[in-house]
Amino acid sequence: MRHLISAADLTRDDAVLILDTAEEMARVADRPIKKLPTLRGRTVVNLFFEDSTRTRISFEAAEKRLSADVINFSAKGSSVSKGESLKDTAQTLEAMGVDAVVIRHGASGAPYTLANSGWIDAAVINAGDGTHQHPTQALLDAFSMRRRLVGKDAGIGQDLTGRRVTIVGDILHSRVARSNVDLLHTLGAEVTLVAPPTLVPVGVGNWPCEVSYDLDRVLPKSDAVMMLRVQRERMNAAFFPTEREYSRRYGLDAERMAKMPEHAVVMHPGPMVRGMEITAEVADSPRCTVVEQVANGVSIRMAVLYLLLGGQEPAAASHPRTEE
Ligand code: CP
Repeated sequence: MRHLISAADLTRDDAVLILDTAEEMARVADRPIKKLPTLRGRTVVNLFFEDSTRTRISFEAAEKRLSADVINFSAKGSSVSKGESLKDTAQTLEAMGVDAVVIRHGASGAPYTLANSGWIDAAVINAGDGTHQHPTQALLDAFSMRRRLVGKDAGIGQDLTGRRVTIVGDILHSRVARSNVDLLHTLGAEVTLVAPPTLVPVGVGNWPCEVSYDLDRVLPKSDAVMMLRVQRERMNAAFFPTEREYSRRYGLDAERMAKMPEHAVVMHPGPMVRGMEITAEVADSPRCTVVEQVANGVSIRMAVLYLLLGGQEPAAASHPRTEE
């Protein structure tokens, strides 16, 4: 694997290797000095054309824990505002000696173009493109599910065969939903999407999942319920659902959460809009993995960077160096 563009590009073995490597990386976070020498001398640029809190900061944390040199680029305040293209921006950064580009872009397909155009030689990691894909989010979600539903140690080498995952909300605009459907299917899980009919994409019939409009019917059969934010920034104002009506039919409150099996978890990729798709009571409950997902994101991104870049060094071992 030279780039990570789409969750759909990962085989079951690729995905399990990333999850298992992330378990090793997670051990680094428990140490007094949270650092490995793996990417010493390598430079990674975080190229963000869209806003981000979790993804941008956790990639930076992952890169620093692997001892890479890190350059943070935000389109706001850059020469993009003067009309500079993606190609010229990327080539400018590569001229400064970049080994990998982590890119978030509003245009679906921008990371694919960067990886396949021949503009640059660096490895490309998709940190979210338009409504298309967010593969490291899907990986950290699968890692979080495996830890909670299978177990931290018991999960090594395992996939999510037979686990039932329900994804609820604005599927139409969600790169998280698309990536999760692809990856969870590859890992053997059964996925059901629940959304208002206006927020279900045309062509969903070709996706490897079920679709339902009745959240209350699906909840008792779910091992994990992933709530999604309504992405107003990608919608024409005329199509905004009213908050009250949306919450009543598709929001998760304590009464609805009680319909889930006792072992089942509530997930959210963030950012959450408390009171809309999830109540504060549910968001703060021990069944909700939202904070764990953020912590797991650092381990997953370390694993992806290690597997993409660590192996390129002649001296790199076949396993991450986790000695003190
Ligand atoms: N989940 C996620 O992508 O969050 P950010 O937009 O804050 O990175």
